[in-house]
Amino acid sequence: MPRAEDVLRAAEATLKASDAVEHPHAGKERYDAEQILAHVLGKDPDPDQQVSEEALRRFHRLLARRASGEPPGYITGREEFHGLRLVVGSGAFIPRQSSEWMVDQAIRRLRGRPHPVHVDLATGVGPVALAVAAAVPAARVFGADLFQRPVALARRNAERLGLTNARFVRGDLFAPLPAALRGGVDVVTIHPPYLGRREVRTLPHEILGFEPRESLTDDSPEGMGLLSRVAGEARVWLRSGRWLLVEVSPDRSRAVSAELRRAGLRNVRSTKGGVSVSRVVLGRA
Ligand SMILES: C[S@@+](CC[C@H](N)C(=O)[O-])C[C@H]1O[C@@H](n2cnc3c(N)ncnc32)[C@H](O)[C@@H]1O
Repeated sequence: MPRAEDVLRAAEATLKASDAVEHPHAGKERYDAEQILAHVLGKDPDPDQQVSEEALRRFHRLLARRASGEPPGYITGREEFHGLRLVVGSGAFIPRQSSEWMVDQAIRRLRGRPHPVHVDLATGVGPVALAVAAAVPAARVFGADLFQRPVALARRNAERLGLTNARFVRGDLFAPLPAALRGGVDVVTIHPPYLGRREVRTLPHEILGFEPRESLTDDSPEGMGLLSRVAGEARVWLRSGRWLLVEVSPDRSRAVSAELRRAGLRNVRSTKGGVSVSRVVLGRA
């Protein structure tokens, strides 16, 4: 039986050689291989532990899926986000670490407020909503998404994590929220589908081939369709002086800032986290 370390080294080489896998930074292939082996073994592998024939067969089946481009989250069904272990699955966007910066921005605008209310639009499997609900137990948190599959996974995550202050509803942007929240929300967050309908075709197979198209683009020419609706409606839901936070890629932050200003939001600016590749554009009602 081979040692776990030898299995991981060979797996790393397989992933490095694959054209279907993105190579964003050193160590990513090793990390993915470790995640998959841990999933098979039911625990983090110890380098010297021996891997049984059966476990090795299963590991190689899953590794082949990864080598064909399938994201690790869809293979293991799990993703870590802001210290939470989330259930993920096909038909729903996989949370990205880059969204943790928006979570931190939301938390500092909610903590210490009386009866804080947070709304996370386009919530997916609920990473932002759940991380805020965990960090600010006094907050009432609502997550909303247009599609059934992400909402079902978000509800499952809330239940598994015991976060009874987070509630998930299904519908278009603000539409499914209780009307009583109008004018009473402290922070609205959104990590929207913001690619234009043509631009989405340029994404790597690893994303376009596996993640739901509706989580990547709103099918408008510039990808601003959903965002301009959010900017237009946010003031109806926010308390006066409270915040809309939008996560986008750096090349979008200028256009999104302009959209927020056009919608009448104040103190609009763009912020960047230490390690984050995205920007959070903030505006105040
Ligand atoms: C980029 S993903 C972000 C998901 C989650 N916030 C995250 O960061 O992991 C965008 C999400 O927008 C949802 N979505 C697309 N159109 C929507 C709409 N009109 N109203 C609400 N959600 C929508 C998609 O289902 C998808 O879950």
